[in-house]
Amino acid sequence: MTKKRILFTGGSGKAGKHVIPYLLNQGHRVMNVDLVRLDYPGVDNLVADITDSGQMFNAMSSYAGLDELEPGNGVPRFDAVVHFAAIPRILITPDNETFRVNTIGTYNVIEAAVKLGIKKIIIASSETTYGICFSDGQTDPHVLPLQEDYDVDPMDSYGLSKVVNEKTARAFQRRSGFDIYALRIGNVIEPHEYAELFPLYFKNPAMRRRNAFCYIDARDLGQIVDLCLKNDNLGFQIFNAGNDHNGAIIPAKELAERFFPGVPVTHDLEEHEALFSNRKIREVLGFKEQHNWRKYVKPD
Ligand SMILES: NC(=O)c1ccc[n+]([C@@H]2O[C@H](COP(=O)([O-])OP(=O)(O)OC[C@H]3O[C@@H](n4cnc5c(N)ncnc54)[C@H](O)[C@@H]3O)[C@@H](O)[C@H]2O)c1
Repeated sequence: MTKKRILFTGGSGKAGKHVIPYLLNQGHRVMNVDLVRLDYPGVDNLVADITDSGQMFNAMSSYAGLDELEPGNGVPRFDAVVHFAAIPRILITPDNETFRVNTIGTYNVIEAAVKLGIKKIIIASSETTYGICFSDGQTDPHVLPLQEDYDVDPMDSYGLSKVVNEKTARAFQRRSGFDIYALRIGNVIEPHEYAELFPLYFKNPAMRRRNAFCYIDARDLGQIVDLCLKNDNLGFQIFNAGNDHNGAIIPAKELAERFFPGVPVTHDLEEHEALFSNRKIREVLGFKEQHNWRKYVKPD
């Protein structure tokens, strides 16, 4: 089935408000489950809290909208759950609250989906699992480029919550045999942010070291989620979700030498090859980047 009925958590946030329109454009039906509504034409909203298991079971066995009452066949089953709701970094809430909401919330969402027989689940993990982003002081990765088989070792509550969520996803996948894919999402860039942020990044590239110079265009993230919906039978998977190139004008080899001296680099880097590798989404899912930053910013 290509057009799916999707329950999307956290769709009112920075990433979701671009990913949901992408999914609607592909013909999917989307119900956004969030603490706040997303006012976008065609999206259904249900206000619910991911930390409450009962609300997740209930939302996932609910009509998406009033029109679904009409056929008189009862409640249709969701084809997929896309789970983005979270506290999206440290220092928004106290560390233990970030950890609680993200881990319990993800447990509740995946458990309800699996027990209700929803066979495709996509969750938002994070580049921060690689342990550089929110580390105390400047730390080096073990190896570059950052690939999915890396031994992730964050030291902060947010990155740790995402590592735990990947394990939760893996456990439920083993038990159910369903498809559960975790997207290690790079630094999300909305269309208006290229002009605002990238000139600053070019002037001061060091400010992007903690992100290993990665970015993901919010619309390209929509494509990645859609490809996850379309590619079945992959079991448990982790995918880096990033664009093809670094968010920097300095070539990749020089970036690695200047900002990560002494860190082993596993192969000869292409000119602007992302240090946060997106090879797996290209090769396994068929991702084709549409929004390289060079379309939107001209370096001086
Ligand atoms: N923005 C980034 O650069 C980035 C990078 C890597 C990973 N991520 C991950 O991607 C996802 C989306 O990130 P974002 O930047 O859009 O975050 P965001 O904070 O803008 O959006 C998160 C949404 O989740 C909702 N939410 C929070 N707690 C909730 C709860 N208890 N119940 C229901 N809804 C709740 C919020 O209302 C919000 O609309 C998150 O899981 C985040 O950790 C984001």
